[in-house]
Amino acid sequence: MRVDVVSIFGEYLAPLSLSLIGKARTQGLLEVRVHDLREHTHDRHRTVDDTPYGGGAGLLMKPEPWGEALDAVLADPPESAGERGPVLLVPSPVGEVFTQVAAVELAAEPWLVFACGRYEGIDARVVEHYRARGVRVREVSLGDYVLNGGEVAVLVVVEAVARLLPGVVGNAASLAEESHASEHDGLLEHPAYTKPATWRGLDVPAVLSSGDHGAVARWRREQALRRTARRRPDLLARLDPARCGAADLAVLAEEGFVPGAHGFLPAAPAVAD
Ligand code: ADE
Repeated sequence: MRVDVVSIFGEYLAPLSLSLIGKARTQGLLEVRVHDLREHTHDRHRTVDDTPYGGGAGLLMKPEPWGEALDAVLADPPESAGERGPVLLVPSPVGEVFTQVAAVELAAEPWLVFACGRYEGIDARVVEHYRARGVRVREVSLGDYVLNGGEVAVLVVVEAVARLLPGVVGNAASLAEESHASEHDGLLEHPAYTKPATWRGLDVPAVLSSGDHGAVARWRREQALRRTARRRPDLLARLDPARCGAADLAVLAEEGFVPGAHGFLPAAPAVAD
């Protein structure tokens, strides 16, 4: 996979040389190219921002340097990209929330291009222009909070995507078992323990040392369902009741959730007389 990142703070992306992502790069599984947006300015101050039309606080990024920078990146595709071209990712608090589903989709792409906005974001015509040219553009948000710029989001998205590429994570089975994995019905992962069996008076649940694989699997599924119900009931709204057995339904009922048309919903509260 090739990743191009356009930013005014390329140094922010230095962590992409570390750990498994750095190793994936040296192994040739991932190529990361960082481009300086200011190389595409033509004034003495290398200006990339300006005041917003209509007034308001803060500065916006001007479209011209972005147009030049992205045109230059798009003019140099990796061989693997073929006809489809890249997915242009624009981190923004107004984007779709980035999820594991999106990470899986992006991991199937040969080429990702990131446009890192700063200040109050990028002039809206930049996204409009590249969409009109047929580029697949996704504005992505890490969550419901505001960052100073897109670089941190690039670190997050590249890490979540690159670890799904074949050969990047040593044990591929571990990917299927973790939280949010589709194999796991999008549930949070069950709690996990390692040795020693007792630590500061706390015991590892006995079932995990029982050697009964069926019982371990049932316990883990129950824990995943309870955790998700308590911490992230929004994820249960997307859990297909058809993927739940009688034991699952009983656990979820205990946690106060009943099957609805598409996923699980909180049971209606009992009405007082
Ligand atoms: N840039 C500013 N805030 C952001 C957020 N929440 N997610 C992604 N990029 C951002």
